[in-house]
Amino acid sequence: MKKPILLLFVIASIIIINSCRRDNYQPICYGNDIQPILTRSCTFSGCHSVASKSGGYEFTTYEGAISAVTTGNAAKSELYQAISGSHPKMPKSGTPLTSKELNKIKAWINFGAEYCAATNTVVSNCDTVNVKYDSHIKPMMISFCTSCHFSGGQAPALHDFNSVKSAVNANTFLPAVKHTGPFPMPQGGPKLSSCDLRKIDLWIQAGMPQ
Ligand code: HEC
Repeated sequence: MKKPILLLFVIASIIIINSCRRDNYQPICYGNDIQPILTRSCTFSGCHSVASKSGGYEFTTYEGAISAVTTGNAAKSELYQAISGSHPKMPKSGTPLTSKELNKIKAWINFGAEYCAATNTVVSNCDTVNVKYDSHIKPMMISFCTSCHFSGGQAPALHDFNSVKSAVNANTFLPAVKHTGPFPMPQGGPKLSSCDLRKIDLWIQAGMPQ
């Protein structure tokens, strides 16, 4: 009689342990979790943008990122080595990555560094009040566009108020960010969030205020 009870106990324990694991498990998606960190911290003009490819690396795309990764081993990955440790080498200028960001990158690499396309998550705290170039559009361009579209870089330039306005007036900007034209932007990266796209719509509707 004792053995079946023990067996039941073991099975019950396994079920409980597994269900706890499942609750805590948050899958890391490259497009949602990793590329935005790289885009924000590494892809400025002169750094790891497509045009500059500093050190031979560009981090605007998944292909670029995994070229600096040893799949399954963060400690052996150049990408992770450069940003971790007590005196991280990278980002060369600007603030070091937070421990939360480092943990995400580490986990992503250790779990196989797989690709996952970004999903448009609904952003509840999307700031769409009084949308202006300086406060809303400019930071977006710096985060997602000017690593390639800097002044003298890839046309159209998107580095200041007038250049962005001209691109909108030339009717290439909206099809690019909405992925309805021939050149979906940001090139090689995930589509802008629905919040950012909404800001762009509202800004254009308001007559593109500076
Ligand atoms: C990784 C580099 C890169 C990034 C980042 C990038 N672009 Fe581009 N963009 C290009 C290249 C290259 C082209 C030329 C078309 C092509 O070869 O795909 C282009 C073309 C364009 C065009 C012209 C499209 C046309 O129909 O003529 C627009 C507008 C544009 N990008 C807007 C943006 C915006 C807005 C962002 C940010 C949300 C952005 N791009 C981010 C590389 C980039």
